[in-house]
Amino acid sequence: MSQNQFDKKSQAWSALFSEPMSDLVKRYTSSVFFDKRLWQADITGSLAHAEMLAAQGIISAEDHAAIQKGMAQIWSEIESGAFEWKLDLEDVHLNIEARLTQLVGDAGKRLHTGRSRNDQVATDVRLWLRGEIDLIGELLADLQKSLVDVAEAHADVILPGFTHLQVAQPVSFGHHMLAYVEMFSRDAERFSEVRRRTNRLPLGSAALAGTSYPLDRERVAKTLGMDGVCQNSLDAVSDRDFAIEFTSAASLTMIHISRMSEELIIWMSQNFGFIKIADRFTTGSSIMPQKKNPDVPELARGKTGRVVGHLMGLITLMKGQPLAYNKDNQEDKEPLFDTVDTLKDTLRIFSEMIGGQVNAATGKKEGGISVNAEAMERAALKGYATATDLADYLVKKGLPFRDAHETVAHAVKAAQSHACDLSELPLAVLQGFHASIEKDVYECLSLRGSLNARNILGGTAPAQVRAQVARHRARLG
Ligand code: ARG
Repeated sequence: MSQNQFDKKSQAWSALFSEPMSDLVKRYTSSVFFDKRLWQADITGSLAHAEMLAAQGIISAEDHAAIQKGMAQIWSEIESGAFEWKLDLEDVHLNIEARLTQLVGDAGKRLHTGRSRNDQVATDVRLWLRGEIDLIGELLADLQKSLVDVAEAHADVILPGFTHLQVAQPVSFGHHMLAYVEMFSRDAERFSEVRRRTNRLPLGSAALAGTSYPLDRERVAKTLGMDGVCQNSLDAVSDRDFAIEFTSAASLTMIHISRMSEELIIWMSQNFGFIKIADRFTTGSSIMPQKKNPDVPELARGKTGRVVGHLMGLITLMKGQPLAYNKDNQEDKEPLFDTVDTLKDTLRIFSEMIGGQVNAATGKKEGGISVNAEAMERAALKGYATATDLADYLVKKGLPFRDAHETVAHAVKAAQSHACDLSELPLAVLQGFHASIEKDVYECLSLRGSLNARNILGGTAPAQVRAQVARHRARLG
């Protein structure tokens, strides 16, 4: 079948063209070396289209059978690496179609009836992305489970909570971990919303205006497991808002990862010494023998910039494009692919770095982060983290909050000058700040008392943390 139309492309597109594309332009315009990654979606979409064409009597049952047979062979050729991708054939769509025609002749040429590469590529990207969103959903659930495990094991561990990176109030380390679980659960929600809008069928829109063939678009949507068909052909072939939305959701997830990375990096520095991450996630230095560097969280923080960059790229790509399809849209793929790869790898590595790996012998997870509870508690004691509790104590004794606040400021100043914690000031000294202070004040000045006092929905009391752990476990299954 060497005379099929695509082989001629190495000379010129069609009889209309008087000279072939230059090699440079061919390289510049071709996308096959990155969009070949869409091959499964491309074949799946083509098979659904062919099935419908046959059901509608647009192609014969024999042609349909030939297309199915040819596509099965192409599938295994690509899988085994035997398929020869050709730059001359520009993209994944033309490569597969040309091979099909080579294998089954005219039936292959009939496949494209009522279809254009414009609705084909939009369909392929949506199908592919839908599958990736499902994988990302699973990875996000794994990461949340890792965090919930750590939270449960450390519900009673006291961490200095910071505002402005200054010690503020004691919090449960478990509570801190669950803050990230909330973030990642919202991320998962965002991805499932994006999935709903991604999972719509452009096929049937053809180049831009729809087609004169009596296609059954609903049937194709059903075959492909899509939630519905795109209702406007111009919009269907040209907008990539689903890809932008996806990359935006991915950017937010990476930003959450990046915030966590920043904390892990700070916590494992010698000055904090709050946690250790397993050696397999760290690297040494070629010059300083004592170093163990948190390369994985640092890289994740760096890769966040890369994903946010892809979002900027995609948004800018769309801006200024007139309806309907423009070749600009071919540029949607590399940022989208790289976003998916970066996000998936990052989620996988973080689940394991936080929660550990299952030991095949014991069935238990090991090798996640290890927590130095004493170092955290010592740090919480340094920063007058219970000052608010003393103010609250005075409010309960009848002082207006603003006055209590001021009174405690004096007490903190006194403690600072004695280089001790509030809880170490003798009762007589404390009573000097306000006569209503009694012996029971020491309960509220302890870190644990402060933690337990915040026994309110969403608060840091270990009892609340355990309730949240149970809620997340029920939700995550
Ligand atoms: N490779 C193209 C893309 O990714 C496929 C669509 C080409 N359509 C066209 N009219 N040139 O967008």
